[in-house]
Amino acid sequence: MPTALIILAAGQGTRMQSDRPKVLHEVAGAPLITHAMAAGAALAPDHTVIVAGHGADAVREAVHEIDPDVTVVVQQEQLGTAHAVAQARAALDGFTGDAIVLYGDTPFIRPETLAAMAEARARHAVVVLGFEPADPGGYGRLVMAGGALDRIVEFKDATPEEQAIGLCNSGVIAANCALLFQLIDAVGNDNAAGEYYLTDIVGLARARGLSAGVVVCDEAETLGVNSRADLARAEAAFQSRARAEALENGVTLIAPETVFFAHDTVIGRDALIEPNVIFGPGVTVESGAHIRAFSHLEGAHVSRGAVVGPFARLRPGAELSEDVRVGNFVEVKNALVAEGAKINHLSYIGDATVGAEANIGAGTVTCNYDGVFKHHTEIGARAFIGSDTMLVAPVRIGEGAMTASGSVITSNVPDGALALGRARQDNKPGLAAKLLDRLRAEKARRKGN
Ligand code: UD1
Ligand code: CA
Repeated sequence: MPTALIILAAGQGTRMQSDRPKVLHEVAGAPLITHAMAAGAALAPDHTVIVAGHGADAVREAVHEIDPDVTVVVQQEQLGTAHAVAQARAALDGFTGDAIVLYGDTPFIRPETLAAMAEARARHAVVVLGFEPADPGGYGRLVMAGGALDRIVEFKDATPEEQAIGLCNSGVIAANCALLFQLIDAVGNDNAAGEYYLTDIVGLARARGLSAGVVVCDEAETLGVNSRADLARAEAAFQSRARAEALENGVTLIAPETVFFAHDTVIGRDALIEPNVIFGPGVTVESGAHIRAFSHLEGAHVSRGAVVGPFARLRPGAELSEDVRVGNFVEVKNALVAEGAKINHLSYIGDATVGAEANIGAGTVTCNYDGVFKHHTEIGARAFIGSDTMLVAPVRIGEGAMTASGSVITSNVPDGALALGRARQDNKPGLAAKLLDRLRAEKARRKGN
């Protein structure tokens, strides 16, 4: 069945106390709305329409960065969830498939759950995603009759008997797209909130003799973010799932509760992750790699057999080949490090290529930035960069070449050459003792005064 996603994201999110639209706050390094988009992507939607309102320009910009094909429509006034869905009508004009409504602030709906809803659509004109929360609080209640869904009543409008119902509305609803808009046309706002409730479409469908059904999901999936505390809870929920998944997939985590993953982190089996490691977006760690304690990785690829850290930082574009060593207090950015190369201590390697088996001495810095432009450093295979070498880019160090410790390298070094780029040392015999005598005498003179 061709499917359209409608993602509601117009609400202000007052309780976030933020200048940023709520759906752009991040969980696992990605905006809430991208989690909703990713969940919906499992249905391979033909159209995605995002209903923005507060901060619509920022929302449009952010979602178009992820997927330029989504349509962003603006709900000028937030008159309720049915009114919000109605804003998607023009964008879906002529579309004959199903529509499924998601909330942009609800990041964890599982693809399997949406698939179950799509499947339930074969039996029901309207399918609602329900859940049974530990504390049903103010959620809309699903009123069942004879095993089928009869209507949804908002908590504010519910009788005490209805308020006692434990089965609640998650907000996710699926129906034929044309029918959805027809039913929405009939929704009024004569209720406790004075809003156009999307939930009213269930009763309206039943009144037309159409059937409605419920798919029930776990409460964890429906966790919605309304406050910073909710955001922290969502992050914690994501992390505990990601840790459990990593362990299940054969990754060793010595202290799982201290490792933080991003939404897209990929870690191969038999990788070993020591405590206090943080993965930003875009990281792949291959099988058998070893990430030592207190390392921070983002936009990086770590191949088999590589060892990173402790206290290493891999920034976007760090590409470590097999058996590379990146040690303590080393930062690597936008650099391809070939097989077996070693950067063991206190170095910055940015905008560079490092050849196979090259050895980068402690304190080496690629001076890649002139204040305006970034320049490239090339280090050949098996080159030996002496400790405390400044490589002033653009510069090339040849294969098997060496630089002397403390060198400032400003021009290319041919293959196999030794480059000395430092002042020549000059030893003055006996001068140290003389100098000390003079200084001590001066100290005694000052005390006597
Ligand atoms: C809604 C449901 C309720 C359900 C609950 C689950 C209705 C009438 N009620 O209630 O049954 O239990 O979600 O969390 O649908 N939004 C807009 N434009 C609007 C109004 C809302 O885009 O005019 C968006 C919000 O940004 C939010 C979502 O729709 O992402 C839900 O709106 P919210 O006001 O939070 O609905 P609830 O009152 O919580
Ligand atoms: Ca809500």
